[in-house]
Amino acid sequence: MRLLVTGGAGFIGANFVHATVRERDDVHVTVLDAFTYAGSRESLAPVADDVRLVEGDITDAALVEKLVAESDAVVHFAAETHVDNALADPEPFVRSNVLGTFTVLEAVRRNSVRLHHISTDEVYGDLPLGDPVRFTEATPYNPSSPYSSTKAASDMLVRAWVRSYGVAATLSNCSNNYGPYQHVEKFIPRQITNILTGRRPRLYGAGANVRDWIHVEDHNSAVWRILTDGTIGRTYLIGADGERDNLTVLRTILRLMDRSPDDFDHVTDRAGHDLRYAIDPSPLRDELGWTPSHTDFEAGLRDTIAWYRDNESWWAPLKEAVEARYRVREG
Ligand code: NAD
Ligand code: TYD
Repeated sequence: MRLLVTGGAGFIGANFVHATVRERDDVHVTVLDAFTYAGSRESLAPVADDVRLVEGDITDAALVEKLVAESDAVVHFAAETHVDNALADPEPFVRSNVLGTFTVLEAVRRNSVRLHHISTDEVYGDLPLGDPVRFTEATPYNPSSPYSSTKAASDMLVRAWVRSYGVAATLSNCSNNYGPYQHVEKFIPRQITNILTGRRPRLYGAGANVRDWIHVEDHNSAVWRILTDGTIGRTYLIGADGERDNLTVLRTILRLMDRSPDDFDHVTDRAGHDLRYAIDPSPLRDELGWTPSHTDFEAGLRDTIAWYRDNESWWAPLKEAVEARYRVREG
């Protein structure tokens, strides 16, 4: 299989490429990535000899057309992904997430190529705290942020291209990922690298907001399962029963890094901060037989902390600029 992976130099995409090279001899991977601030050549260095790397933008219709025509399937990860950046400047989110997905869709339509579109549970908006209800495929879209609204728009385009043009696409909406190669702007790596660089962790508001954590390898094994066995036109929710509030996650990181439980600062809360995300992954488990393998969150977090300790050269060049941006926001 000739597989085109957009956004393969980002966090989840790079882990996906690593797993594919490791586990699937019969797959030839081409990565298309614009190398925005979030993309990293170093993340693909371990597989540099095994994949074709194309630097380019998913809004470049001629380039996307050429690469799609050479492929049997596309897994579309490329997007702007950080809520805080979207609040500060939404324009790149509209361009990459909406126009970029449109460009990919037009190319797969013209060339009759299979597509798997990667999305987020944030398209459903948020849930109340302390309520057992979880997101399902039937939950109405109700995005809150410029990030989630552009991801929702991209999902709608994919669904319409399936219905209107018969594009052979599946979609997945996953919960919050953690693991190696995640940019230090995101919650878990930011707190780990704050501690490693002598800064104090920073918690938005009271830390009561709940996220449903999944290890990136489990997200990617689900994507492969959907790509091979999923029903065309279907949306699958990917989650691993990992709900935790932010204060609990931060205190676990502090304990695993031998810090005291109150060794952090509360900072100004995020505007429009979604309260709780939670996925009901039953159809993925019952219909496709997928199960996560990283079921011990604390063990996954310990391995992730070890990865950031051992790979300072990967993240250290990014750290100061990220914290400078946060200083402006957090005061
Ligand atoms: P990331 O920000 O780490 O990586 C995004 C990658 O896309 C980068 O390599 C970047 O260079 C590339 N990119 C961005 N705009 C591009 C463009 N216009 N053309 C070509 N390449 C471009 O993101 P991530 O966390 O790996 O997320 C990947 C996908 O998974 C996204 O679609 C995101 O919405 C989705 N997702 C993420 C999470 C999460 O917890 N991180 C959860 C669910 C879904
Ligand atoms: P984030 O990793 O940005 O993912 P998302 O907002 O897309 O779920 O943030 C996860 C949670 O952590 C979210 O509730 C915001 C919170 N957060 C902090 O408390 N402190 C931080 O420094 C960051 C970056 C996030």
